[in-house]
Amino acid sequence: SRPRVIVTRRLPAPVEAALSERFDAVLNPDDVPLSRQDLAAAMRDADAVLCTVGDRIDAEVIGAAPRARLLANFAVGYNHIDIRAAQAAGVVVTNTPGVLTDATADLALTLLLMVARRAAEGERLVRSGAWNGWAPTQLLGAQVTGKTLGIIGMGRIGKAMAARCCHGLRMRIVHYNRSRVTEPGVPCRQLPTVEDVLREADFVSIHCPGGEENRGLISAERLALMKPTAYLINTARGDVVDEDALIEALENRRIAGAGLDVYADEPRVPEALRALDNVVLLPHLGSATRETREAMGMKAFENLVAFFEGREPPDRVV
Ligand code: GLV
Ligand code: GLV
Repeated sequence: SRPRVIVTRRLPAPVEAALSERFDAVLNPDDVPLSRQDLAAAMRDADAVLCTVGDRIDAEVIGAAPRARLLANFAVGYNHIDIRAAQAAGVVVTNTPGVLTDATADLALTLLLMVARRAAEGERLVRSGAWNGWAPTQLLGAQVTGKTLGIIGMGRIGKAMAARCCHGLRMRIVHYNRSRVTEPGVPCRQLPTVEDVLREADFVSIHCPGGEENRGLISAERLALMKPTAYLINTARGDVVDEDALIEALENRRIAGAGLDVYADEPRVPEALRALDNVVLLPHLGSATRETREAMGMKAFENLVAFFEGREPPDRVV
């Protein structure tokens, strides 16, 4: 009989059609997030679970002896999955790298431009009906073209962001990456430490993975190294930044502003952050284009197909 695949959220129609044709797929047409109990039940009752970044798949949810043998993650980041627990329970995990690189870099650039040019503030002004017309000193932001971009994490998305900012905005690029980057794709300088990047950059854009290895990487001490005129952009994972320290730095204008697409405890966005004018806040939209979400779904599908045909899934994490 066909493998049973529980799909935790609603997916683009062509993806759901492909899943239903090939598998005994349990879809979620109402798109209601699964509770912990539902997720644990899915691990017990299905041969595979197609999960998303909103599903916290910890050791308890995975359980000691799940029926599920594959977690097909609909995302490149997998810090919401306890990888070690999955491995211990014999569950293979796959992700969706590559297909969301451009969409995420596009969104990082959107945030960078929005926060520098105070686009969200301007938009709120117009919508409020309070705009009185052009003025020489109204809503002045920071020039972007020609400034220095600092990238933390020069993987696929970091490189795509660097290319946009180098070619489109003639920015100088410096970056930090744990290992040596041999083909950055654009003229840039790899600096030895995160601190070096924070000190030099006018814009810092985070593109490293979340989870244990990078939790709190952008700490109070490191934020204090940034120029008071600099901006922080985060489209990676909220836990990479000490959110309380960031709020304090923004409140005290120790940095100029931040553009955020991700948060430490989504969907909770601290009230103190929402009260600030010098931040742009988006609801985790990095990969949210029709093209990319469909491609991510088809990638998850291909991983499922490969696994159940006894082949090595192309995007196996563990
Ligand atoms: C989305 O956040 C992803 O990691 O793909
Ligand atoms: C994501 O695809 C990355 O490696 O940056």
